[in-house]
Amino acid sequence: MTRPPLVDRLRASAPQISVGVLTADWLTLGAQLELMERAGVELLHFDVMDGAFCPMLTLGAPVVAGFKTRLLKDVHLMIEDPLSKLDGFVAAGADIITVHVESTRHVHRVLQALGKMINANDPNRGIVRGIALNPGTPLEAIEPLAGEFEMVLLLAVNPGWGGQKFIASTCERVKRVREIVRDTALICVDGGVTQDNIANVARLGADIIVTGSAVFDGKAPFENAQHMMHALR
Ligand code: DX5
Ligand code: ZN
Repeated sequence: MTRPPLVDRLRASAPQISVGVLTADWLTLGAQLELMERAGVELLHFDVMDGAFCPMLTLGAPVVAGFKTRLLKDVHLMIEDPLSKLDGFVAAGADIITVHVESTRHVHRVLQALGKMINANDPNRGIVRGIALNPGTPLEAIEPLAGEFEMVLLLAVNPGWGGQKFIASTCERVKRVREIVRDTALICVDGGVTQDNIANVARLGADIIVTGSAVFDGKAPFENAQHMMHALR
């Protein structure tokens, strides 16, 4: 399978943030998204939770589709049996789709299926396939999937909520994943990233850094996003 051109674009602008929308003020979402665009944010992170894979229930494909934005849609699927739901998220305009290695017996098949799907925003862009690991899952789980993903997402919190504390052992995991994938895949770190630890997460080798409640804190999302991006330079 040829590498989606979007991978090169993301690699060229690494490290960068992907802003989680879970804790955004949904009553003024349009204005909040404009603030993110003005701040220079390129990626929006959608946490899809089904109440089965993890305790929380959040949003589905219709909500992702409802975000009419130029920003790239980074969709994190924390759902059981993702294979049957991929079409909906692709049709909703997902640019990155990440599935959890723990969410299905057939993760290789899910990634293969995703590899044949066309980006609904721009067929030339491609869809970046992400494989995600919970904090307790051994890194070796990605080895048999080599060639079937373009991004590894390391959760630095247990799935289910924004605003949790960053799990320190994630730092060593980022370094080891870089050794496993070298430059064959992007590395994403998700959960518990704040203005205080983002620079260190980037130094460890993360290409994409998800941050939600530290940006959408109900006070100054524009300044928060700018601060985070500045910390990466
Ligand atoms: C956790 C989610 C994360 C979380 C990030 O299950 O996958 O994306 O919402 O939010 P913060 O940055 O607030 O930890
Ligand atoms: Zn997430």
